[in-house]
Amino acid sequence: MENKSRGNWQSQVGFIAAAAGSAVGLGNIWKFPYITGKYGGAAFVLVYLIIIIFIGVPLMNSELLVGRKSGKNALGAFKELAPKSSWWIVGAMGILAGFIILSYYSVIGGWATAYIFKSGAYMAAGADHANIFVGSITNPWAPLIWHAIFMLMCIGIVVAGIEKGIEKYTKILMPALLVIMLILIIRSVTLPGAGKGLAFYLKPDFSKLTAEGILAALGQAFFSLSLGMGCMITYGSYLKKDQDIPANSYWIAGADTAIAFLAGFAIFPAVFAFGLEPGAGPGLTFITLPAVFASMGAVGHVFGILFFFLLTIAALTSAISLLEVVCAYFIDEAKWDRKKATWIMGTIIFLLGIPSSLGQGVWSGVKIIGGRDILDSLDFIASNILLPLGGLLLCIFIGWYWGTDKAIEEANIGAKSIKLGATYSFLIKYVAPVAIFIVFLKSIGVF
Ligand code: TRP
Repeated sequence: MENKSRGNWQSQVGFIAAAAGSAVGLGNIWKFPYITGKYGGAAFVLVYLIIIIFIGVPLMNSELLVGRKSGKNALGAFKELAPKSSWWIVGAMGILAGFIILSYYSVIGGWATAYIFKSGAYMAAGADHANIFVGSITNPWAPLIWHAIFMLMCIGIVVAGIEKGIEKYTKILMPALLVIMLILIIRSVTLPGAGKGLAFYLKPDFSKLTAEGILAALGQAFFSLSLGMGCMITYGSYLKKDQDIPANSYWIAGADTAIAFLAGFAIFPAVFAFGLEPGAGPGLTFITLPAVFASMGAVGHVFGILFFFLLTIAALTSAISLLEVVCAYFIDEAKWDRKKATWIMGTIIFLLGIPSSLGQGVWSGVKIIGGRDILDSLDFIASNILLPLGGLLLCIFIGWYWGTDKAIEEANIGAKSIKLGATYSFLIKYVAPVAIFIVFLKSIGVF
């Protein structure tokens, strides 16, 4: 449904840049390496890749086509395609997940923003990189101010709207991030002792794979591809009919997976070369990469500043997609104007993020789920429960309620090279929902 008043992506490239901008973010560069480290390395990576191909790509197609067909936000889409039913609850769950994810995402976005200005500290001779990181996030005030700054930048872009804001910023800065990552990889893999890190990352040891690890891989796949909460439904709703959904899905998933994989190449060789701990947790990227910059001599300053600047931009292009999901709902359904929706929701989400930030320091005694701090617990609930559940329900919606025939028909309008067909149908009806369901049951200990 082309809808002039809601806005549309102006070009194919603009859409891919925006959707890839949503997918590529802290999930790739901060979260992927640290959970790969936590769950044992190569075997986890392999499971992750399998999930991307058999669950991630079909769901990417599904969200985009539901968005374009309905021309609506995450909740409105279900009301449009399944009127007089309860399917809108899936959309409501997605919007809730958006609130939760953005609240802590913005806290970490704030850490990345702060690090743009920390090269003086981490480049100093004999700097203790772990201490610098821990010191910077346990302070009660500074991280909150950076969280506020990050959220304000996010609000600023979303207020500007879909063409003027989101599309313009992403098109240029994403390729720059890729270039700097390649330079970092070259430095990292040539460090003495890097080989052990490459082995950790690339040689699978399946004895390290646990049910919890597989659930984490599933959650990470959803998180990284921005799936399971209607984000790609919302972005798909701004697609024109002549734009190619299947090809876009491959490009977005491919670019996202490539960046995450490359981030691992920048980080693990350095982790082992500097004698750090791969399972160190959420600080991994923020501790390891500054050590790499410090090993580069004076140019490390330049690379460090540039890297954290680009990481902040990558985080912003993801954060705006989360805020857009929430705002699109209030704009479409509650008829708020864009400015009002963005400021009110942005402020609420900022407030919701405060406990996650304080949980690193003054509230570090607060443990919620399985010994996890506030931020980690929210991430667990959103990534490992709400997103896979949203994905599962979307599979059931398309496969068993709305019909894969209608889905395939919509996706193939504008499809040039690859078209969806029987394989897609099989994956959405059987493979993806059964796999998600089994991982769930297994991880809560049913068998
Ligand atoms: N995919 C982003 C990242 O990897 C985060 C993100 C943006 C997201 N939009 C989302 C995660 C929607 C889940 C759902 O950093």
